[in-house]
Amino acid sequence: MKTTITILAENTTPAPAFIGEYGFSALIEVDDHKILFDTGSDQALYHNAAQLGIDLNKVNAIVISHGHFDHTGGLLSYFKQYGARPVYAHSGIFVNRPLPLGGNNYKDIGCGFSQEELLKAGANLHLQDEFSSIIPGVFFSGAIPRNNTFEDTGGKFKMVINGELQDDPLTDDSALIIEHPDGLIIVSGCAHSGVINIIEHARNQTGDSRVLAFIGGTHLITASQERINHTIAALDSFSISKIIVSHCTGFYAAARLYNALGERVIKGETGMRFEF
Ligand SMILES: [Fe+2]
Ligand SMILES: [Fe+2]
Repeated sequence: MKTTITILAENTTPAPAFIGEYGFSALIEVDDHKILFDTGSDQALYHNAAQLGIDLNKVNAIVISHGHFDHTGGLLSYFKQYGARPVYAHSGIFVNRPLPLGGNNYKDIGCGFSQEELLKAGANLHLQDEFSSIIPGVFFSGAIPRNNTFEDTGGKFKMVINGELQDDPLTDDSALIIEHPDGLIIVSGCAHSGVINIIEHARNQTGDSRVLAFIGGTHLITASQERINHTIAALDSFSISKIIVSHCTGFYAAARLYNALGERVIKGETGMRFEF
């Protein structure tokens, strides 16, 4: 099972040809199958894919990690350019998500479209709240149990349910899991469920305890030292070969992980490609 993961959109870029954009998007190639995981916040993924010589028309399916704008922002424009594709996501991605900015100011950080708009645009929508197969050996995590009390969503997120502003547990936060012969490869958008919760869910659901790689956002940017200590200890116990942290990881958390775990930790930026 040849697996290649290319970061198409991420906050930063190490090369002049690419555009950095707040958010995350990656092309996941498993043998001949191409899956677009998240779509960044706007247009960067299209520019960056063109620079890399990647034909996005060959994408077979799109997976959305959760309903935040910086992961869903390029989805409708994908349909406009390339036509409909199957979309895998948790059913909770469409919730209304105002982020309090101070006073009475809010920024809408939700997915930016309704389920109806997505269907009208031609999406073949697979709303999956449970662990499920996308293609043989590639799985959508569904909702991730929050068993580790040291992890949280990483922010004071809010949502509106029946007209009422409530705390948002980001129940829709999901990951993609590849059962590679050498161990699990886990791809995350923001990891609002918690990096360790996600890895444990992947291990429990697949029955494979070997973790080859974790790649994506970790939302450790707001984490306390205590949480980072617990995260490092757990990651070390899993013997992961590659921990590729991106997007909402933050400089401080990335530096702590690198200092503790060494060259297994890589800062994943726009245009980087990883082969397994
Ligand atoms: Fe994000
Ligand atoms: Fe997010």
